[in-house]
Formats: sequence, structure tokens, C-alpha cells
Amino acid sequence: MTLSDAAAPAETATQTAPKPIPPFVRLGGAPVISAIVDQFYDLMENDPAYAELRAMHAPDLAPMRTSLKGFLTGWAGGPRDWFDANPGRCMMSMHSGFTISDQTAGQWAQAMRRAIESVATADQQMAKAMAGVLEELAMGMAR
Ligand code: HEM
Repeated sequence: MTLSDAAAPAETATQTAPKPIPPFVRLGGAPVISAIVDQFYDLMENDPAYAELRAMHAPDLAPMRTSLKGFLTGWAGGPRDWFDANPGRCMMSMHSGFTISDQTAGQWAQAMRRAIESVATADQQMAKAMAGVLEELAMGMAR
């Protein structure tokens, strides 16, 4: 399921419905995606609940902040620069080299949910959908 599907009102599935507004726009665009990612990594850095997840990442999170902002922007229907710069890159196979447990996947999903809830306040329905779909993605990476 895509993020658009998860938050689409039922009537947008009909043939006569107008083109849905992309999640990227509904969430608030680049400033909101940027703030979600910064809040996510701030939580990962500072909240001991995510220590195990933090330890899996490189000491400098700056490149990750840039990359995740770019990925989420294109994934949510915004500018696709990250996908253009990373042709054919698959999120699932990109993580297949890491040993991701239910616990670390759960930490990722929870920190992301908290970040989304605290920052993406303009459209609660879309914010909920985004957190839910990302949780499914994260839990699907656990082995
Ligand atoms: C399931 C729990 C997850 C864990 C434990 C995890 C862990 C990691 C780690 C360790 C890295 C490399 C970091 C580094 O080099 O410092 C990484 C990279 C990345 N992850 Fe995850 N990840 C998870 C889920 C996700 C999800 C669900 C997404 C997106 C929806 C995502 C997006 C990314 C991106 C965009 C990168 C950077 C790729 C790059 O530019 O090299 N991750 N992840």
C-alpha cells in the first residue's frame, strides 16, 4: 500500500474523483519533511530508549539526515531528486546487510511516529497514515 492509498478518502478511488493532493503537499512540504527527519534523529541521539538503534548508525548522522529527507520527499510524492540520484536503489535490499531485530525495527517505528506526531500537525489523517505505513515498512525489515 502506498502512502496516498493509506490516507485517501474512499471517494477518491472513483474514476470521476479529482486528482488527489500528494501526501508531500498535505503534510506541509519540504519544511515539514525536514523537521520530521531532524526530530527523528534528535530522538535517536538523545533518548536512551533508542540507544540500540543509534548504535547501529555511524557516529555522524548528518549524511543520514540529508538522505532520509530526500528519500521521504520523493516517497511522499514530492520532488524525486533522491530517486534520480539513486536509480534502482531499493530500501529493503539496502537494509538487508544490517541485522534488524523486532526490537530495533520497533525503535525506528516508534521514534518516527513520535517525530511525525510532534511536527506534522496540519493534516492529522495524513500524519497517521504516514506513521502507519512507515511502521509496516520498518517491521517488514526485521528478521
Ligand atoms: C527497521 C528499522 C531500521 C533500521 C534498524 C535502520 C538502520 C539503518 C542503518 C544502520 C543505516 C546506515 C546508517 C549509516 O550508515 O550510518 C540506514 C540507512 C538508511 N535508512 Fe534505515 N533503518 C531502518 C528502517 C528504515 C526505513 C523504514 C527507512 C525508510 C522508510 C529507512 C531509510 C534509510 C535511508 C534513506 C538510509 C540512508 C541511505 C544512504 O543514503 O546511504 N530506514 N538505516
